[in-house]
Amino acid sequence: MQGIMAAFFGVLLRQAWWWIVIHVTFFPLLVWFLLLQWVAWTYLLISGFFILVFWRTITGNVPVFFSSQAVVQAIAELVEEKDIMHFAELGAGIGTVAKPLAENYSLLNVHAFENAPLLWLINVWRGRNMFNLQVFRHCFWQVNLANYDLVFAYLSPAVMSKLGAKVRTEMRVGGVFVSSSFPVQDWEADAVIYLDDWQNTCLFCYVIKDNHTLGVNY
Ligand SMILES: C[S@@+](CC[C@H](N)C(=O)[O-])C[C@H]1O[C@@H](n2cnc3c(N)ncnc32)[C@H](O)[C@@H]1O
Repeated sequence: MQGIMAAFFGVLLRQAWWWIVIHVTFFPLLVWFLLLQWVAWTYLLISGFFILVFWRTITGNVPVFFSSQAVVQAIAELVEEKDIMHFAELGAGIGTVAKPLAENYSLLNVHAFENAPLLWLINVWRGRNMFNLQVFRHCFWQVNLANYDLVFAYLSPAVMSKLGAKVRTEMRVGGVFVSSSFPVQDWEADAVIYLDDWQNTCLFCYVIKDNHTLGVNY
């Protein structure tokens, strides 16, 4: 009943379909796990694992998903085409994008910012032998974007407006901002790259122009 009620309100509030699935399955799964009667510390271990992976997902409004190989390929093409030297990934997860870029372009300086401890650790481990990849356990809101030629983000629609303001204030004219899947509200993209991956990802590409005109439907 709890799941059905939650799902009902989820539909009323027009939540995304995956929230409805979570609402319906949450309580039955909870009961099922309790019935398994594992030793108490396993529950603590599982909770700890989820906390270290999802960290501030709820308060930060950004979930954990990973980019496809098609995204990596498209970003690599942009790096070559625009002769990019300094690349930043905001919310880099386990390095799905940052690691292959650093691997394939030894002259590219890659900075990956991730705040979930376990994802950050995996990212550090994957990039351990790469001198041109630095993985920071930083909140990307605290990072100054002024020194990057290309900034890549795959976050959530909830933060795009605030991120757009940050990009507009900090990135230099001529820099490129690429947002996977989520456009910046009220900005017109210079290019949209449509990818044929399982998510049908769109990459919204913005070339930073005059700081005063960007963001007002230039
Ligand atoms: C949708 S995932 C994208 C992961 C990776 N960029 C990719 O494309 O595969 C978003 C990531 O941003 C991280 N994240 C969310 N808010 C953050 C913040 N304020 N600072 C740093 N990382 C953050 C999450 O932990 C998550 O790993």
